[in-house]
Amino acid sequence: MKIIIIAAIAQNGVIGTTMGEMPWHVKEEFAHFKNTTFGFPVIMGRKTFETLGNPLKGRLNIIITNSQNFSFKDDGAIVYHSLIGALDYCRKANYEKIFIIGGREIFLQAIPFVDEMILSFMKFSAKGEILFPEYNETDWQKTEEKIFDQFSVCNFVRKGRN
Ligand SMILES: NC(=O)c1ccc[n+]([C@@H]2O[C@H](COP(=O)([O-])OP(=O)(O)OC[C@H]3O[C@@H](n4cnc5c(N)ncnc54)[C@H](OP(=O)(O)O)[C@@H]3O)[C@@H](O)[C@H]2O)c1
Repeated sequence: MKIIIIAAIAQNGVIGTTMGEMPWHVKEEFAHFKNTTFGFPVIMGRKTFETLGNPLKGRLNIIITNSQNFSFKDDGAIVYHSLIGALDYCRKANYEKIFIIGGREIFLQAIPFVDEMILSFMKFSAKGEILFPEYNETDWQKTEEKIFDQFSVCNFVRKGRN
């Protein structure tokens, strides 16, 4: 099972605000996110789930929270109380690939387990307090870059795994 981070990052490293909003709305980037993740499980932190409001359609939404009271009645969403537990569930269910979709807290914990990263680098800076975590760039090999008007999508594979 491939574990893949997918994220969109402004030039100044911002991925979001503490109020939970996405600081930009770029249709083409959302379309790329949807097309890439559609049909596969997506793992996210409780705060990111709350910014979405509803599960993403066509994907099993796995929400990570420490809260024993958090529940969500929807066939498209399940709750786990640890990232490791969620990853074990996906491995046992034999998914070909799964996507880690944020936010920062989840990206930070996931980076050591991740095989690939699909990062959209936005061509602008944004206002916000939540940054993509630092990672060791020398661990990653860029395998593809697609250029769009407002962003570039770069695929990275962990060195030694391709
Ligand atoms: N640009 C992008 O690509 C992108 C993607 C996604 C999100 N975002 C942005 O990122 C921001 C949210 O990121 P964030 O870092 O604040 O929050 P987050 O990672 O979405 O969620 C954090 C929450 O996840 C739960 N959690 C984290 N690690 C856990 C663990 N090991 N075990 C159990 N529960 C765990 C906790 O929930 P409880 O508090 O319920 O225990 C924690 O408060 C928003 O602004 C959002 O818009 C941006």
